[in-house]
Amino acid sequence: MITGPRIKTLTIDDKPVGAREDETILTIARENGIRIPTLCHLEGLTPIGGCRLCLVEVKGIARPVAACVTSVQEGMEVTTDSPRLTQYRRMVLELLFSERNHVCSVCVSNGGCDLQDLAQEFGLTHLTVPYQYPRHKVDASHPWFTLDHNRCILCTRCVRVCDEIEGAHTWDLFGRGMQARVITDLNQPWGSSQTCTGCGKCVHVCPTGALSEKGKSVREMRKSREFLPYLRLMRQGRQV
Ligand code: FES
Repeated sequence: MITGPRIKTLTIDDKPVGAREDETILTIARENGIRIPTLCHLEGLTPIGGCRLCLVEVKGIARPVAACVTSVQEGMEVTTDSPRLTQYRRMVLELLFSERNHVCSVCVSNGGCDLQDLAQEFGLTHLTVPYQYPRHKVDASHPWFTLDHNRCILCTRCVRVCDEIEGAHTWDLFGRGMQARVITDLNQPWGSSQTCTGCGKCVHVCPTGALSEKGKSVREMRKSREFLPYLRLMRQGRQV
């Protein structure tokens, strides 16, 4: 006997919704027009639950859970907005801003940056934690693109799109904690990569100005991501 995924019923912000058992809280919330802020998540890429911007409260669970990687359960009561969640999301943003050198006024992605948008949404005008001012290099060795570690938030969108969509797996993560950074080809300069196809997908999924096209000045880099869901569907052999 062939059985499909079972249907679960739950509430999100007191709204009754139905979902397949293999769907996440984030997916169902979006399908029902309920916005949950995200940063590392991008439609078409495998969710990793890395940034914790999408934290939501579930009745009966003491700690908030990441909506992008939490599957729905029968009878769940989910809250996506509360003073506690706002406080946690602000803290996540503060830590991201403090960890590297996000100087928006001189950034190619100023005005087109997911991190900047969220800071504005949450009214983040100053930090309550100290800036770390790390010394990070810029890799401009690639003929068409630039990698600025100062703007990187380690969301791994570039790593995932290169692996899951382009199939090159040029990008990876190196190091731990404050020393962690994205690398190409076993920590070689991007321009000498043997695997990079130069497709630019990594640049366009990057939420900040960490990856940009050469020749773009302050405020000139705009990311285009419409290709992601379609490429994913085509890879799965479905019709679009
Ligand atoms: Fe869910 Fe980043 S969007 S943890």
